[in-house]
Amino acid sequence: MPVLARMSGIVKRFDDVVANDGVTVEFSAGEIHVLLGENGAGKTTLMNVLYGLSRPDEGNIELGGRPAEIHGPLHAMRLGVGMVHQHPLLVGRLTVAENLRLGGVGDGTADGLRAAVAEVTRVIPLDIDPARRVEDLPLSQRQRLELVRCLARGVRLLILDEPTAVLTPAEVERLFTELRSLTTQGRGVVLITHKLSEVAEVAQRVTVLRGGRSLGTTLAGERSLAELSDLMVGRQVPAVSHRGAGAVGTAPRLRLRGARVGDENGRCELDDVTLEVHPGEIVCVVGVEGNGQRALADVCFGRRPVAAGSVELDGAILPPVGEWRRRGVRLGRVPEDRRHEGLVLDAPLWRNLLLGPMAPPSRFLLHRRRALRRARRLLTEYEVRPADPHALAAALSGGNQQKVVLARELSGEPGAVVAVNPTRGLDVGAQHDVHLRLARLRDDGVALLVISTDLDETLALADRIAVLYRGRLAGPYPADEAGRDLLGRLMAGLGPGESEPPGAGVSAVAA
Ligand SMILES: Nc1ncnc2c1ncn2[C@@H]1O[C@H](COP(=O)(O)OP(=O)(O)OP(=O)(O)O)[C@@H](O)[C@H]1O
Ligand SMILES: [Mg+2]
Repeated sequence: MPVLARMSGIVKRFDDVVANDGVTVEFSAGEIHVLLGENGAGKTTLMNVLYGLSRPDEGNIELGGRPAEIHGPLHAMRLGVGMVHQHPLLVGRLTVAENLRLGGVGDGTADGLRAAVAEVTRVIPLDIDPARRVEDLPLSQRQRLELVRCLARGVRLLILDEPTAVLTPAEVERLFTELRSLTTQGRGVVLITHKLSEVAEVAQRVTVLRGGRSLGTTLAGERSLAELSDLMVGRQVPAVSHRGAGAVGTAPRLRLRGARVGDENGRCELDDVTLEVHPGEIVCVVGVEGNGQRALADVCFGRRPVAAGSVELDGAILPPVGEWRRRGVRLGRVPEDRRHEGLVLDAPLWRNLLLGPMAPPSRFLLHRRRALRRARRLLTEYEVRPADPHALAAALSGGNQQKVVLARELSGEPGAVVAVNPTRGLDVGAQHDVHLRLARLRDDGVALLVISTDLDETLALADRIAVLYRGRLAGPYPADEAGRDLLGRLMAGLGPGESEPPGAGVSAVAA
């Protein structure tokens, strides 16, 4: 198969960080090429270079055997290279259709756009109303929109940066089927993932990056998953389940009673949800993104009121977040969108570690030395790289940004924690560390509610599991009684025993 892209000796520096340190790699037509590496290894940076988002300091790129200078993403797409981002690069205030047009899909007319999208969506269903504003879409649908945009532009090499983090097992299957069919059409796919099982499932070749360097490319079957994991992280990561003793017979710490939330169009996002989380247990709410997770997180985060029912912490109605500090509410919040809700990207890490109602009081800010010392301690403890309190949050890799949010929210001695996809984007080593940390909090008597789109994470972590589908909750079930099959079916909106119809779940928007 012909080589679609060849990158030679790519060096990319950010100030004193060498994100890519002489990487040479090639991607061919007809293959799914998995790019592996721990958080901060340089995967996104390397692909941003290929997509024209950033200029390499050294090195060359060849596309289709010819030297290429790539001036920007639109140029890259014209040259046949498209990318679906870890954090989709779309204009939130514009609609789906406007974003597609902006991405160069169609001939500029409404009809042309419709025709181009219709062509692609025969293969990859979009199932999103083109008039919806992008900022109202869950991440999985934003990713999907980027995917459709790339394919409608007819790219030959498609780069996907952690696309499966927010999909159900069935959706991942469907995406992989779609990707395989692209490779049989002579296109190539580069897939960045932290899930090693996906290597075995789809990859023809694997390249491992570590510390900005390539450790080489191998055929997927040549190394075992354990070898790849060790290679990637540089240490052995045990596969363990962290399940603990379960709820102790005490009063619930966090409690939702008949909670209902509607959006401005009168659609019901959360429908009569009742759930109790006791001290010393982890309750996971699993579901396909877009089924009410955001509303559930919002009411627990004190960001939105319930239209009916109640949310209680330690027996009292949870006040709006603005009053938490004054009223001494100690609830850790790990939001879904760390870049916009969890961090101030253009502020240094030490300041980011002082955000939120559980942070030390504002006079702490005056004691800059103390704040810096605290930041250094937290960054080291949570293995944030770089562990430099002066680094800007924007300069961290996706996984390291997540660690900063966790460091802040879990270190404030919370009585309860509500976390949305807490290990999304973390490498296997970091995932393991976070799971251990959450389990330790549980063992210390904290009540944890984990809202996750990741079934593997749910099964590894939960004492009890509930499934959210179209705003309604099924369960919770004790973790030992809820198997992968049952949960998968409930996540797709099926009763126990039914099999899944094609296309279900992909665009499950709370009706
Ligand atoms: N804009 C930037 N400014 C400064 N440093 C940056 C910038 N972008 C990336 N870096 C640094 O470059 C290194 C590689 O980051 P990159 O985002 O490529 O990692 P990654 O392999 O994609 O990690 P993850 O799995 O966490 O997404 C990291 O040390 C990161 O902090
Ligand atoms: Mg990345």
